[in-house]
Amino acid sequence: MSEESIYGEYKQNLERILNEIVAHIRRYTDEEYERSGTKLHEHLIARVKSEESMREKCRRRELPETPYSALHELTDSIGIRIVCSFIDDVYENVRLIKSFPSLEVVTEKDYIKHAKPNGYRSYHMIVKVKAPFKDAAGNDPGEYFVEIQLRTIAMDSWASLEHKMKYKKNIANSDLIVAELKRCADELAACDVSMQTIRNLINYS
Ligand code: GTP
Ligand code: MG
Repeated sequence: MSEESIYGEYKQNLERILNEIVAHIRRYTDEEYERSGTKLHEHLIARVKSEESMREKCRRRELPETPYSALHELTDSIGIRIVCSFIDDVYENVRLIKSFPSLEVVTEKDYIKHAKPNGYRSYHMIVKVKAPFKDAAGNDPGEYFVEIQLRTIAMDSWASLEHKMKYKKNIANSDLIVAELKRCADELAACDVSMQTIRNLINYS
């Protein structure tokens, strides 16, 4: 007998909302490309958090493994990561995402302007979307949370490497690695700024 999804009867709704937001992103991206030849993102990852990760996160936060915990206590069941070539494109995506119908920004964290002490950079948004079907808290129209992360290619490759280190236990020379990662993050950030400046010089000359 198969175990019931932690998302219960709402699982399909998560896919629907994810698909609609991704369609919105692709639409404005195509429009901008036709208008100016600028590719607003380099690639994009969209996912509904897997059963196992969601259950694991509920246990870690000491929440019961229910649709309510997964969809209303936690806010990253639906996740989108947008990876851009240039810093300005990150902020342009942030602006355009906000034009999605019935979307409300819940939290915004600008770890690009204010990097984490370890060197992590990214722009994070939690948004809430109203949808024409009910949710696990009993609202109809329902409210669904989406976590959106936006970063440059440089920030993305740094975050993958740092993530690998964080989840590997007993690494030799870990202090050295942490310090080297921080140094790299700052060098990459300086390069991102230079790349943006060069693009501006090319575009406006
Ligand atoms: P969770 O970490 O998801 O429990 O949420 P939070 O409240 O700490 O939010 P935050 O915005 O800090 O982080 C959300 C997500 O951003 C994480 O799940 C990671 O995917 C990513 N992230 C945040 N900080 C780091 C970091 O230092 N390194 C890496 N590689 N990823 C990070
Ligand atoms: Mg965190």
